[in-house]
Amino acid sequence: MTDSAQQTPYTTDNAGIPVESDEHSLTIGDSGPILLQDHYLIEKMAQFNRERVPERVVHAKGGGAYGTFRVTGDVSQYTKADLFQPGRSTEMLARFSTVAGEQGSPDTWRDPRGFALKFYTDHGNYDLVGNNTPVFFVRDPIKFQDFIRSQKRRTDNGLRDNDMQWDFWTLSPESAHMVTWLMGDRGVPRTWRHMNGYGSHTYMWVNRGGEKFWIKYHIKTDQGIECFTQAEADRMASEDADFHRRDLFDAVRSGDAPSWTMYVQVMPFDDAPDYRFNPFDLTKVWPHGDYPLIEVGRMTLDRNPDDFFVHIEQAAFEPSNLVPGIGPSPDKMLLGRLFSYPDTHRYRIGPNYAQLPPNHPRSDVRSYAKDGPMRYEAARVARPYAPNSYGGPAADTGRFGDVAGWRAAGEMVREAYKPHREDDDWGQAGTMVRQVLDDAARDRLVSNVAGHVGNGVSTAVRERALQYWRNIDKEIGDRIATKVNGG
Ligand code: NDP
Ligand code: HEM
Repeated sequence: MTDSAQQTPYTTDNAGIPVESDEHSLTIGDSGPILLQDHYLIEKMAQFNRERVPERVVHAKGGGAYGTFRVTGDVSQYTKADLFQPGRSTEMLARFSTVAGEQGSPDTWRDPRGFALKFYTDHGNYDLVGNNTPVFFVRDPIKFQDFIRSQKRRTDNGLRDNDMQWDFWTLSPESAHMVTWLMGDRGVPRTWRHMNGYGSHTYMWVNRGGEKFWIKYHIKTDQGIECFTQAEADRMASEDADFHRRDLFDAVRSGDAPSWTMYVQVMPFDDAPDYRFNPFDLTKVWPHGDYPLIEVGRMTLDRNPDDFFVHIEQAAFEPSNLVPGIGPSPDKMLLGRLFSYPDTHRYRIGPNYAQLPPNHPRSDVRSYAKDGPMRYEAARVARPYAPNSYGGPAADTGRFGDVAGWRAAGEMVREAYKPHREDDDWGQAGTMVRQVLDDAARDRLVSNVAGHVGNGVSTAVRERALQYWRNIDKEIGDRIATKVNGG
């Protein structure tokens, strides 16, 4: 784009044609009128008007980087997934985010953080779309939309509202474990580099012999856990709303590549029906003492995208991207998510989103999909149908035909999960308060909850919130009540 007379590249329009001016529209005389034939001016205005795609309906504010996942352990007895075989290295993309805030919202608001990973494997993209929390607020996908609306903005005044949040949480006691987690220290990580990721759901792994296991992912930061106190987070929200996005970008740019070590908990397939907790309930963890962590590998993020919009805004993660050797589980939330993400991508970025740079598999794509808006890759087959006697692709059912599934039979119902021996909504939250937090962390929990419940929450909802905390732990509930009531 340079000509021989000068070093500065010359501007072109989108068709690559040199433009006449960067500064002056085409007018009749110096005061106009402006001419419709100024194609370049019109192209600039029209392009500008179409610069935004809708922001993600949740997890709108985020940032990310490319990197590599290297296998360091040997989990080949549990999964045949190519990317987890000993010695493998796989290119990947990670995106971190807050959940409820919009595009411009401060990074240090108290919220779970998204922890979305895309692995470009030889068998297509594997997406592990988790959070920095091992559990979630609800356990049925039919409640997700209501939950999110209670965390976002009211319809009448457009404001966020603590009363709405506690109203939903206290009417949904299954939220107690996640709310305890959120109101604790880890509810505001110091940076994305200083937080863990969790797959949260239970997934299935299948080994070469066809044996099935239930697994949970834990992706632990090698930088160590660091959190902001509420006061530090509030200060940072006004000093630098983009603090987390900036921190990751600067660390990667300066060569201080952050890394995380991935572990799994592995449950034998037949343990599930009699395990003391329902292993598919997203509001529960599997205590480490029951299923210890097994090392899988390490991911290192060392490459910033050269264009934020192209690589991060247009990144489309989807839990339905599961590769051979990995399957879903009967977790209803996960099963709901398998539909939701590709659907929202088709709406947000268009039906051919999988062809865009961050989403394009690095392995061959041989699907029969064709046409649609913004498609730029030519179809690979002239006759777009299967079965096909003209050399079109055919499914290799011998290699890939095994369904990573489980036996399902019964009446169609709308019912809660049948409780396992120790299932209840308060138990694991109480364990966290009593056994995981130390005195100082409990003090901060009391202060965080009291600050939140004491701010704009109606008397009736506040009373329910205090009872909710007493159900988690009587002493902590009483302490919160004293503080809320001015003690
Ligand atoms: P462990 O003592 O083995 O594990 C407790 C875990 O709690 C730690 O390993 C750590 O997870 C996590 N943790 C530490 N501080 C905090 C904090 N401030 N906020 C949130 N999590 C924290 O006990 P169990 O496995 O028996 O679990 C006991 C309780 O710990 C559970 O009821 C649950 O509330 C919580 N927990 C359990 C996890 C699990 O998968 N078993 C994961 C996270 C929390 P990590 O090592 O992942 O950093
Ligand atoms: C983003 C739906 C539960 C993690 C999204 C998006 C939708 C969605 C529609 C926007 C995607 C986009 O525009 O690119 C749902 C539904 C859920 C659910 C319907 C429950 C039924 C969860 C859970 C987790 C999670 C349990 C974590 C364990 C994420 C992450 C993103 C996201 C990390 C951001 C992905 C990115 O960085 O682009 N979710 N979600 N979601 N969700 Fe969920």
